Amino acid sequence: MAAKILVVDDDPNVQRLLQYTLKQEGYDVVIASDGAEGFRLWGAEAPDLILLDVMLPKLDGYQVATKIRTEEGTTAHVPIIMLTAEREVEQKVRGLRAGADDYLIKPFHPAELMARIKSLLARFAPRDALVGRPPLGRVMVLYGAKGGVGTTTIAINAAIALHRELGRKVCLVDGNLQFGDHRVFLDLGLDKKSIVDIVTAPSIDQDLIRQVLVKHDSGVDLLLAPPSPETAELVTPEHLPAIIDQLRGLYDYILIDIDKRLDDVNLGIIETSELVFVVMTADLSCLKNVRLVLETIGHLGYESGKVQLVLNRSNAFTGINVKNAEGALKRTIDHQVVNEYRGAISALNSGAPFMFTKADSLLGRSLLDFARVIDKQPAAAQAAAVGR
Ligand SMILES: Nc1ncnc2c1ncn2[C@@H]1O[C@H](COP(=O)(O)OP(=O)(O)OP(=O)(O)O)[C@@H](O)[C@H]1O
Ligand SMILES: [Mg+2]
Repeated sequence: MAAKILVVDDDPNVQRLLQYTLKQEGYDVVIASDGAEGFRLWGAEAPDLILLDVMLPKLDGYQVATKIRTEEGTTAHVPIIMLTAEREVEQKVRGLRAGADDYLIKPFHPAELMARIKSLLARFAPRDALVGRPPLGRVMVLYGAKGGVGTTTIAINAAIALHRELGRKVCLVDGNLQFGDHRVFLDLGLDKKSIVDIVTAPSIDQDLIRQVLVKHDSGVDLLLAPPSPETAELVTPEHLPAIIDQLRGLYDYILIDIDKRLDDVNLGIIETSELVFVVMTADLSCLKNVRLVLETIGHLGYESGKVQLVLNRSNAFTGINVKNAEGALKRTIDHQVVNEYRGAISALNSGAPFMFTKADSLLGRSLLDFARVIDKQPAAAQAAAVGR
């Protein structure tokens, strides 16, 4: 398999030149135009080596290198070559201290670049076959306390935010087996593979799952629901936990969108997950359902921290405000997503999620806040996942 090289440089001419030269040598190339994007793509693409310019918008090369080294800890090491226009020894020392493995002064000869790349790849490759850091393997459920509260909207856009904005490897599972609508939300045809292609195979392994997952343009991988309600019956309560277990080894986040049924399939999914986000709106029937769900989860013996409440359309006028809702439930609402009907419905009807096309909208920013909180949350669970 060709090694993948991430080029982080804001100069389109340098981008073009490096892309051409590296492809000629048989490498896969990924390009980032600023430091923040470079850092994101390091997480999302797991490159084998990074060519990192020093003078970059958003985050400079030193900051990017430092962030990568902090994040990857001692478990992995992606080789970094700094591309610098500066000749001073002091700058080189700074680059190396930030975590670069080598540096090249611009302009450089392509032959020299290739020699440095090959030597670094050789130095680091044999140590670990699994390039990049190990996946976090966090499994989270988005459970709709009632139909139509926005569970799918939140699941899809949170998945895209975690991947594109926060650089995580993300798999989104449509657990609404009979009437899943990720195909509609993401403009994918009925011909795309689904969970049925996994459960009807003689055995479930990572290779099979990889073949069935559908890559969305945003970079999020999807496990789609069956194309028709009849075939949903082929999925038994044992299937999803087994599939999720395999996905843990491949992704930082596995987000599963499920509906309000507390049947064996959904309970199996809840059992294997780290967190359940109960999505709700501020109306009485929803509050009643949330109360029942909290009780049921309590009876099942899960600790209360396993459930977090997400109030969607939180600023919509319903006559019940956040304080009233919290009072009725006797607990706090953990997350809120703003109400923006036009943004949500037009994204749905066009098949282009707002987090992908309008990340900077009110709704986009609200979902990004939610994703950020998820990503920062329990360090303990993350540490356990890394140590697994
Ligand atoms: N934050 C929001 N602001 C305004 N409208 C929203 C918001 N979130 C979702 N919606 C709208 O609510 C409707 C239902 O959304 P969605 O399909 O995501 O809900 P659901 O809970 O998954 O529904 P179902 O029960 O059908 O699975 C859609 O029209 C969507 O555009
Ligand atoms: Mg839904």
